[in-house]
Amino acid sequence: MGKDVIVACDFASAEQTFAFLDKFTGRKPFVKIGMELYYAEGPAIVKEIKARGHKIFLDLKLHDIPNTVKKAMAVLRNLDVDITNLHAAGATAMMQGALEGLTREDGTRPLLIAVTQLTSTDQETMERDILIREPIDQVVMHYAKTAKNAGLDGIVCSPLEAAKVHDTCGKEFLTITPGVRFADGEVGDQKRVMTPAQAKEIGSDYIVVGRPITAAADPVAAYERCIAEFCD
Ligand code: C5P
Repeated sequence: MGKDVIVACDFASAEQTFAFLDKFTGRKPFVKIGMELYYAEGPAIVKEIKARGHKIFLDLKLHDIPNTVKKAMAVLRNLDVDITNLHAAGATAMMQGALEGLTREDGTRPLLIAVTQLTSTDQETMERDILIREPIDQVVMHYAKTAKNAGLDGIVCSPLEAAKVHDTCGKEFLTITPGVRFADGEVGDQKRVMTPAQAKEIGSDYIVVGRPITAAADPVAAYERCIAEFCD
């Protein structure tokens, strides 16, 4: 898989999701299914979107004891998604268990990506609530290295961190970056943003784009603009 634009389908129901996806009559976007949609509609939504020919990033961010995560991943592997994820804070044994659970009998598996420190957690929150006192950028880079050493394929990070992650963990280690906005678009609640063109320049492997596409007057045109800026 090469560079691609992943559309965050942050919808509350299958009905809304399909009303959105039905607009795409040409190129089929890579779709991110998150907790809201998955918990509302269950595994059926994944199978239906897959059957329509979309690639899928199942963003459920697993975090539990290694045995539980391994068994959960062994269920998810049957959904035939392309990418899934977990929290690096679950540590090495959990990540290795996840990889084991995710690997099918024929040796294939979805890509497995780690979430490092959520962007909603800042330095102050980290120090106060979880007693992590190192600078947050060092914490993110440490999680990235731990994920790489555990055998994972990449991390979710800000586009601003993508170049450093590649320097630290190698070009092959994937960076999936949300927080993307068009130069002339609304920023909304995202704090540190980049355009698709800037994300390409800095070396992001995949950009995750939600509202700039889902809330656009013409979502297909907004998606094609992302593709043109990021992939072409
Ligand atoms: O609408 P928007 O483009 O901001 O959507 C970005 C998507 O990426 C959302 O699904 C959001 O939950 C996700 N995400 C994020 N920042 C992170 C991790 C995930 O925005 N650090």
